[in-house]
Amino acid sequence: MLGVCYYPEHWPESMWAQDAKEMRELGLRYVRIGEFAWSRIEFSDGVYSFEWLDRAIETLAAAGLEVIMCTPTATPPKWLIDKYPDILPVDINTGVTRAFGSRRHYDFSSKNFFREAMRISEVLAKRYGEHPAICGWQTDNEIACHDSTHSGSVAAKEAFREWCKSRYQTIEKLNTDWGTVFWSMEYENFEQIDLPILTLTEAQPAHQLAYRRFSSDQVLAFHNKMIEIIRQHAPNRFVTHNFIPMMDTQVDNYALAENLDFVSYDNYPLGRSDLFFANRPAEEFKPYMRTGHPDYASYDFDQSRGISKKNFWIMEQQPGPVNWAHHNPRPEKGMVRLWSWQAFAHGADCVCYFRWRQAPFAQEQMHAGVKRNDNSKGAAWAEIEQMRDELKTVAFSADAPVQAKVAIISGTTNQWVSEIERQADSYSHHETEFSYYSAIRQLGLVVDFISMDSDFSQYDLILAPCLPIVNDAFIEKCKNAKAHFVFGPRSGGKTDELSLAPNLPPGKLQALVPIQIISTETIRPDCSETLIYKGKTFESRCWREEIQINENVNISALYHDENPAIVRHGNTSYIATLTCDNFLIELFDDLANEMGITTIRLPKDMRMVHRGDMTYVFNYAGHAQTFPIENVGSFLLGQANMAPYDVAIIKLNS
Ligand code: GAL
Repeated sequence: MLGVCYYPEHWPESMWAQDAKEMRELGLRYVRIGEFAWSRIEFSDGVYSFEWLDRAIETLAAAGLEVIMCTPTATPPKWLIDKYPDILPVDINTGVTRAFGSRRHYDFSSKNFFREAMRISEVLAKRYGEHPAICGWQTDNEIACHDSTHSGSVAAKEAFREWCKSRYQTIEKLNTDWGTVFWSMEYENFEQIDLPILTLTEAQPAHQLAYRRFSSDQVLAFHNKMIEIIRQHAPNRFVTHNFIPMMDTQVDNYALAENLDFVSYDNYPLGRSDLFFANRPAEEFKPYMRTGHPDYASYDFDQSRGISKKNFWIMEQQPGPVNWAHHNPRPEKGMVRLWSWQAFAHGADCVCYFRWRQAPFAQEQMHAGVKRNDNSKGAAWAEIEQMRDELKTVAFSADAPVQAKVAIISGTTNQWVSEIERQADSYSHHETEFSYYSAIRQLGLVVDFISMDSDFSQYDLILAPCLPIVNDAFIEKCKNAKAHFVFGPRSGGKTDELSLAPNLPPGKLQALVPIQIISTETIRPDCSETLIYKGKTFESRCWREEIQINENVNISALYHDENPAIVRHGNTSYIATLTCDNFLIELFDDLANEMGITTIRLPKDMRMVHRGDMTYVFNYAGHAQTFPIENVGSFLLGQANMAPYDVAIIKLNS
């Protein structure tokens, strides 16, 4: 299924019917509207204007489109901000109140905003909840985007004090848990606690972790209330939310997804790759400048499926250059189709393109649409037409499951630990997790993202690239699982309140792999050293832990000075350093094979994934490449010898 994001309020009403007709001709079934339309729905306090929206919905429905309605809370209008200035959030880096004039300018702790956001959501849900043309709802828009999870406001401070009271109960417990005796930070009562911002040098790590947990809870409370209101008035309609990359939300993504019917993700592979690989050398980045990194989009697809344990939607798919990355190239011809198919292959049910027509005005006028602002057809048009036709021939089934034998354990708390206490400028939680993911993908394997609380029974190989905080229940589950576990450096090293594990890192993980980390050093990325694995030399870089080995622990790899770098005990491996992709590929290949998982060394920039009884293959390379497995099934699309940026779909032999 395909769809599009549309802003009827940006165009003369005389264009709507033709737009709707063309959307249908292009094979689009869904149209998302309304997420920034608050000032048109309620131009001033209590003065509503619904007639235009009624007509827009009728026009779209008359053409056979199904409408996804959004709550417009990402853009509180000027009159509301003037009436309740405390809605504006406070920048945690400067203490300055943010200004009106863009979007997401609201504070999750503002009681006025909470009430007003729920009010407008309820007004809309009551009016359109049972409208036959509206099939589902999107909450807000990209809820944490533009670093909007945190605020340094008075309201946030007051709410944080309440949150601390409820978590720690007594000030003595908080003092002990945080270790406030250090640097004379002890508190006499909860009213003395400020937010851990604007301190002269680094703020208390446990205080920072508590503030991040609190901020995440504020977002969840806001979002869950909105879902509840929509559900009250919109029976039998789905409720979804369009996520940004999970690493950027600063919210517990599993919890954020919990009350939704399914997760949606906004896929901007070029913009995201430009930001993520900004510091990589040109020779490494340039091949992907117009395609995005072969693993970047799917990394987020697999997380979207993972946090909800369900299929997902792409609510916004980049159709051409965007306007917000450091640089904004156009996609290679064929990439919009490739990204769309890739989303379906990784578990998407629907791909919606952002946006129907390029806006001639305001902030996003340099952002491509499916159509140009003069109403001519943009570069993506032909590729969407091709998607429309190919979806029919391939008989793609949204019921087909993506079945993985390999999982990556992810979670925002552990991300926070490594952000709060970096210990090396070059340590990046995001890059570390991505490198493990990319290595597995280069072996042709499908990956699920799971939380520590998930059921492990379907997996044979479980990777935990960075898991500083673990709990007893997790350890018990690991002991009883059939999978081989691989833990990356820092794992198990911290308590729940971000103190050192009392028995030395890897703390509770010592029950799985009896070792102790007796020292940790970080080194400049350009001063990397070596790692010897099975007689071959690889890279050890940035992070290096010194391991003390206890009984029955095998050494899998050594540092240059012959000290253990990677060790193994039973079904647990521990990697004490950061390393290169080539090494991770070797190690994971060996472990996968040992666990009975068949791997395949794909040509560079080729990726494959199984969904149901189909295998999808993607050639991200700018040259033809041949899919290396023969006689697996019949090609429904494409062929083994793949053109640049091409897609092949193979129905597997039964
Ligand atoms: C998304 C956002 C859209 C639009 C788009 C531009 O992050 O949800 O409203 O701004 O980016 O690429």
